[in-house]
Amino acid sequence: MSDISVGQLAQRAGVSVATLHFYEQKDLIHSRRNAGNQRRYNRRMLRRVAVIKTAQRLGFSLKEIAEMFRELGDDQDIDKDNWQRLSERWHKILTERINTLEHLRDELNTCIGCGCLSMDNCRLRNPDDTLGEQASGPVLWEDDSQR
Ligand code: FES
Repeated sequence: MSDISVGQLAQRAGVSVATLHFYEQKDLIHSRRNAGNQRRYNRRMLRRVAVIKTAQRLGFSLKEIAEMFRELGDDQDIDKDNWQRLSERWHKILTERINTLEHLRDELNTCIGCGCLSMDNCRLRNPDDTLGEQASGPVLWEDDSQR
């Protein structure tokens, strides 16, 4: 299978050349140089770009995507098995994020129209009730005065 130029990859993947250079800087795709010192991409990079765009659409950062690619192995083709692993992992992460967001949204219900942002009463302001676990009252004030 012959390698393709950056322009061909950009056209086929539906992204700009600048985007491909950026992805390469971030270690998401790789190229080699030909005898004329021009970048050449293995056609597998087409699938990588499709996976990157899909993952971004799902809310994953480029840093997270690069980490996932590293775990798969940088030279690995994203074949059916690897896609299965990636998509199952994404599903799990998205489910956790949705659960967290739903929990935050529910806590926000009590804040609507309030605005106290109290360390004592507001679960969004003090989600772990860190002061409440130490003691009630002016614990924070006493600790701060000793510094
Ligand atoms: S702002 Fe008052 S409870 Fe959150």
